[in-house]
Amino acid sequence: MAELQWRGKALAQPTSAQSQGTQARLMTRETQSALDPVAELAETGWQNRLIQGERLEVLAALLPEFAGRINLIYIDPPFMTGRDFKQGGQLAYSDRWQGNLDAYLQWLAATLHLLYQLLAEDGSLYVHLDWRVTHYTRVILDEIFAAPQSGRAGVGGGFQNEIIWHYQSGGRGSRRYARKHDTILFYTKSAHYCFHSERIGERRGEHKRNHMRRHLDEQGQIFWSIRTHGRIYTYSSDSLMTPSDVWSDISHLHQRDPERNGYATQKPAALLERILLASSEPEHLVLDCFCGSGVTPAVAERLGRRWIASDQGDLAISSTRARLLALPRRVPFIVQTCLSS
Ligand SMILES: C[S@@+](CC[C@H](N)C(=O)[O-])C[C@H]1O[C@@H](n2cnc3c(N)ncnc32)[C@H](O)[C@@H]1O
Repeated sequence: MAELQWRGKALAQPTSAQSQGTQARLMTRETQSALDPVAELAETGWQNRLIQGERLEVLAALLPEFAGRINLIYIDPPFMTGRDFKQGGQLAYSDRWQGNLDAYLQWLAATLHLLYQLLAEDGSLYVHLDWRVTHYTRVILDEIFAAPQSGRAGVGGGFQNEIIWHYQSGGRGSRRYARKHDTILFYTKSAHYCFHSERIGERRGEHKRNHMRRHLDEQGQIFWSIRTHGRIYTYSSDSLMTPSDVWSDISHLHQRDPERNGYATQKPAALLERILLASSEPEHLVLDCFCGSGVTPAVAERLGRRWIASDQGDLAISSTRARLLALPRRVPFIVQTCLSS
């Protein structure tokens, strides 16, 4: 199998101390009770968690309790843009690596190793990046998801999709094609994973499809047919199709979008909604260790999923906390700080 090499790669595997969470502990600094408790979750005593801390320390601290128990992970880490992201005059986070790709890959690979350990056997991982580092990350993920870890390889899992999220925002230079997409890599730990295409289906619709014949039924309704391997398949225009891996129907958030909470790299809730609906069940546990504006926990809360969200930034934690407090919460949440010892 092809593998990616970079300086220091051997150190990207978390040490056993990190894996066992012995270097960091979580201290609860605030408890927010439920506004509209749902009986089943209230009975379990579960509390969602917003954690402030550096991603490796947080993930290592979660391992003793959550190894193999997270159903869905979405991350939107720094992309190696070489920029600082601010809100007003305040730094939200720095994505400067002094052009040191080795350092970035080391950082990202160490994160991915820990996330793999936290992922349930039937769990899914979505990694949101762009043209700068997607290609390296895909090779790193292939290696992590193929390698036997903790004594056991995920059977039949690995790469599922490279999702292209196509948007219109930003400028257009004249020296190359305009870069108008992010990439979301979708991996599963095994062949047995949750995927609900019917929840996110697109209506087949009435506009012309080159590979299908258009018909009218007796009521004047449009339907489509296609002949494949000697059989004819027919579909009504109201039938649902599994979305393709190119998503151009979800708009980037505009500066004045009412959904915006001011966090620099905020992603639209519609993006997370599609991912959570397809790849998790109600009450499943969702993790995002770069939660920024709080989009993942906010969507998880709305869809009745349990969540753990973390970020190291003060602005990220205050934005996420404020966003969650504005929701009709069904489940209590705690705010924790990750302390390294
Ligand atoms: C691209 S933003 C995430 C945006 C988020 N998905 C949203 O829609 O708002 C990346 C986040 O990673 C956080 N971050 C960067 N380095 C980190 C680290 N070492 N540990 C924890 N969080 C980190 C930043 O504070 C920032 O909020």
